[in-house]
Amino acid sequence: MSDVRDAFSEKSDKKTISEILRTYKAKGLPEREALILIAFVLGKSREYVLSHQELECPEEAVELLEKRLTGYPLQYIVGNVEFYGRHFTVEEGILIPRWETEGLVELAVEYIKRFNAKTVAEIGIGSGIISVTLAIETGVFVLGTDINPKALEISCANAKRHNVEHLVSFKLGSYLEPFEEMFYDIDIIISNPPYVREGIEVQRELLYEPKEALFAGEDGLNFYREFFNRYNIKDKIVIMEIGDDQCAFLRKLTGGKCIKDLAGKDRYLVIIDDKC
Ligand SMILES: C[S@@+](CC[C@H](N)C(=O)[O-])C[C@H]1O[C@@H](n2cnc3c(N)ncnc32)[C@H](O)[C@@H]1O
Repeated sequence: MSDVRDAFSEKSDKKTISEILRTYKAKGLPEREALILIAFVLGKSREYVLSHQELECPEEAVELLEKRLTGYPLQYIVGNVEFYGRHFTVEEGILIPRWETEGLVELAVEYIKRFNAKTVAEIGIGSGIISVTLAIETGVFVLGTDINPKALEISCANAKRHNVEHLVSFKLGSYLEPFEEMFYDIDIIISNPPYVREGIEVQRELLYEPKEALFAGEDGLNFYREFFNRYNIKDKIVIMEIGDDQCAFLRKLTGGKCIKDLAGKDRYLVIIDDKC
C-alpha cells in the first residue's frame, strides 16, 4: 500500500479523488465501493477520503477500481469481510460470506443456548465465519471440516484473529469423516453447503468464487442427499442453509422445518429429532 505522503507529494497529471469518484460513478461503480478502494490504498478511513477529495488519487487505487469494474469481488481485493459485526479475512479461493448466513448463525446461537449444546460440528467451514462466530458468541466447541485446504488455512487465521483457536478444531476432509470417532458427542450439525444448480447462469462475481463452494449437481441438492444418506441424525439437531426453492424437497426428505430469511425466502432447514 502506498505511503499517503508519497501518494500526494508527486506532482503529476493524476486526477483528484473527486474527479475519480465522478469518473467511476459514471462507469457504473457505486461511490461507496470506490471510496472503500481508495481508502484501502491510502490506509485511511472512508471519512478521510470523503473529506480530502481535492487530493490526487493514487495510481494504485485507479488500478483497483479498474479491476473491480471487471467484476472481481471487492472483498477479495481488500481481503476482508464483515460478518455478524466482526471483521474476517477472506481470499480468492474461498467463498465470500453472504448476509443470509448471519441468519443461520442466529438460529444456531439460539439452539446452542436453548439445548445447552457443548459440541457443534460445521461441514464446509470456508473462511470459518460460522464456526468462529459460534465459538465467540456461545463458548461452544466447534469441529469443522472442509475439502478445500485453503479453507482450513483461512479459518485457522480467523480463529486466531478472534482468539478462539482453543475452541475450534478444523480438519481437511469430506462431510464429518475427520471426526467420525467423535460423532456421538456432536450435539448440533450446522452447514452452509453448496446448493446452486449446476449449469444455471450466475452473476459474474460468482465466476471468481470456488465452484465446489457453490454448485451441487443438476438440482443443487447433491450435498443434502449425500449427507442425510450417510448419517443417522437421531438425537442431534441439524441446521442448514438452503436454496429458496429447495424447502419442499428437503422437508419431505428429512421431516424438518424451513425458516425464512430477512427477505422472506425459505433459507434455513432445522431438524430436531427427539429433542422436543
Ligand atoms: C457455501 S460454502 C460455505 C463457506 C462458509 N461456511 C460460509 O458460510 O461462508 C461451502 C463450503 O463447503 C465446502 N464443501 C463442499 N463440499 C464439501 C464436503 N463434502 N465436505 C466438506 N466441505 C465441503 C466448500 O469447499 C466450501 O468451503
